[in-house]
Amino acid sequence: MRITRPPFAPLEHEPADVLSSRFYAEGDPHALWAHLREHDPAHHCDPADGREPFWVMTRHEDVSRVLREHETFTSRRGTMLCIIDLSMPDFASDEMMPDTDPPRHRQLREPVNRALTPRAIAAQEEPIRRIVREMLEPALDGGVFDVARAALLFPMAFTGTLMGLPRENWRRMSHLTTMTIAYDDPDYSTGESKATLRQAHHELFSFFRDEVRRRQATDHEAGDLIGILRSMDYDEAPLTEQQLILNCYALLLGANVTTPHVASTLVQKMAEFPGQYRAARESPDLRRPLVQEALRWASPASHFMRYALRDVELHGRTIREGEPVSVWLGSANRDERVFERPYEFDATRRVNKHVAFGVGPHYCIGAGLANLGLRIFLDELLESVEAVELAGEPVHLASNQVAGYKSMPVRLTARAGAARRSIA
Ligand code: HEM
Repeated sequence: MRITRPPFAPLEHEPADVLSSRFYAEGDPHALWAHLREHDPAHHCDPADGREPFWVMTRHEDVSRVLREHETFTSRRGTMLCIIDLSMPDFASDEMMPDTDPPRHRQLREPVNRALTPRAIAAQEEPIRRIVREMLEPALDGGVFDVARAALLFPMAFTGTLMGLPRENWRRMSHLTTMTIAYDDPDYSTGESKATLRQAHHELFSFFRDEVRRRQATDHEAGDLIGILRSMDYDEAPLTEQQLILNCYALLLGANVTTPHVASTLVQKMAEFPGQYRAARESPDLRRPLVQEALRWASPASHFMRYALRDVELHGRTIREGEPVSVWLGSANRDERVFERPYEFDATRRVNKHVAFGVGPHYCIGAGLANLGLRIFLDELLESVEAVELAGEPVHLASNQVAGYKSMPVRLTARAGAARRSIA
């Protein structure tokens, strides 16, 4: 999607375009979101194609409220405005962590969360660093390097390792997870949208089913995330095969479709603001705020959804019980009511209340891991790269779920000794 700033050109799009995948590849969602925040903060969207109406929340305060108030806004009927009919029951309801409400949600979340504490993931630091070096190494010869393509594989460095997934499958799994959110994108679609989504789900679920069965057959006990899912109880019984598969899928998807786009943003912003990066090279204290600003800027998880459990009054409108409510994180992260100069990339922002990881009970369970991975990515970028130059227009993914890049050609100038360092 275009990441633009005011003054915006006259609005060319209808609010219903929030559903359109193409809008995010070619259009200007930031202009539409700014308009909705100002003039219609609780927008009722009634798609012309007959799909079920839904609400569109664009202000930081409302986005946060919907995500926090699980007693009023449930996750049990699905959390994405997908291509699937919103009136259909969600087959993952109460089976997959993101599609549960507290208190049951805690049963699925807490054991996994314990495996993702800063202490527990510290051991991932070296493998992640090695993979980041391998990833950047081909870029250091001064040729054109597509950082967005390379970054797609980056999260497998931590999910692949933490879930104990064989490395020969990483590239395919990364492609399949992108297919699930970019089923309309010509580079990921296999034809029709629903068929693309079905194929990606089928392959990913089959992969995890085989992995779970292989472990069952060999009585294989592992301390990795799949091992933890296999050892925990849900409603006083071990997870069923379906629950295991769905929760593996949620972990893989959560990491793969988001983190790459923040890594690409870190590279892109180095081209635009070399001074901010020089400062971060000299003062490591500036690296954390720089990563947080890249998260706010990129906001890769574009929207999430809930269903109202009772009637709610908001901005003079009534959301009725049972109606779907979508919240737009990329919009909340540019809300001028919360952020000073929201359209400026400013790594020295001290207070940065971005909601890129969500808020409330479903706050991203992988946030610590993503922060660690992105921090290592930034460290390695600063160590090995002197300067970045964009070598072509970035190309955006066609997806209403993920704001991301599928291509970003850059030319990197290596720092003295960097190539040798990456091979060492
Ligand atoms: C930059 C990287 C990431 C971003 C921007 C991001 C964003 C988000 C957001 C906004 C949510 C909240 C969803 C909701 O409220 O319904 C979420 C939840 C989740 N994320 Fe992430 N995520 C990232 C990385 C990861 C990683 C690395 C993992 C894997 C370990 C992961 C796995 C999950 C899971 C399983 C959930 C559901 C948590 C729950 O329902 O309690 N994410 N993520």
